[in-house]
Amino acid sequence: MKGIILAGGAGSRLYPVSKVYSKQLTLIYDKPLIYYPLSILMLSNIREILIISNEETIPLYQKLFDDGSDYGIRIEYALQTAPNGIAESFIIGEDFIGKDGATLILGDNIFYGNLDFIYKAMEKNDGATIFGYRVNDPERYGIVEFDEKGKAISIEEKPAKPRSNFAVPGLYVYDNDVVNISKNIKPSPRGELEITDVNNVYLNKGKLNVEKIGRGVAWLDTGTPESLLQASNFFGVIEDRQGLKVACIEEIAFNKGFIDQSKFENVLSKIPKSLYKSYLEKILKER
Ligand code: G1P
Repeated sequence: MKGIILAGGAGSRLYPVSKVYSKQLTLIYDKPLIYYPLSILMLSNIREILIISNEETIPLYQKLFDDGSDYGIRIEYALQTAPNGIAESFIIGEDFIGKDGATLILGDNIFYGNLDFIYKAMEKNDGATIFGYRVNDPERYGIVEFDEKGKAISIEEKPAKPRSNFAVPGLYVYDNDVVNISKNIKPSPRGELEITDVNNVYLNKGKLNVEKIGRGVAWLDTGTPESLLQASNFFGVIEDRQGLKVACIEEIAFNKGFIDQSKFENVLSKIPKSLYKSYLEKILKER
């Protein structure tokens, strides 16, 4: 299974910072937003990851992660020349995906809690697996409708009259067909290759599994200043209370055995004196 993080977008709701800075690099409490989706892929044992972004931001991600070897993973980078839609990721990523399946996570989506639902979905995926998460503001998302038996019967992108409160989060698990399906859909009225259209192709083939995510999991939004502050507060409270960091990719790499102790020490030696470094030193000492 290959992993893709789509981290482009104008982030215009974050103006003026969006004039010079990418949304996925803004701080969520103590680390850039993109660390959170990256950590989800790593926790799912996905070690080959493609980051798709725009021309200005790719060099910044390269500076952050390089080729991924510090975290025991392989990271490649690819360009999306314009915001042509989420589904374009699979066309851009065709060579990277090769003959494998692909899990896509949006660079601004954060999940927190028991993530077993993701691991299970990847294990048993046959076709496509997406998720449904109850939200208060369904007009803003892809919305899935279920029948009485809990089977998904429709998915609509940002419906004016939502048929349910279940939004589809930006985490999608696909088999290799996703590449061809994405090549064959047409742009929507907003000019984008919609991920919802890809999901509808799978739905019509009887190959779409929609798993509801329970309320014990947090799916956080990060599109606006308010939601960024909420997410920062959320992780600030948890990290401060437990003395453990969320989405600390060095720690995840070490705990998962992607890197050994000497590599971890080598990575540590390159980090300047900071709270982040002290935390990693503590992790090493407590081993
Ligand atoms: C996109 C998808 C939508 C999904 C959402 C999750 O919306 O099109 O189906 O529910 O991500 O974050 P966009 O971010 O393009 O508004």
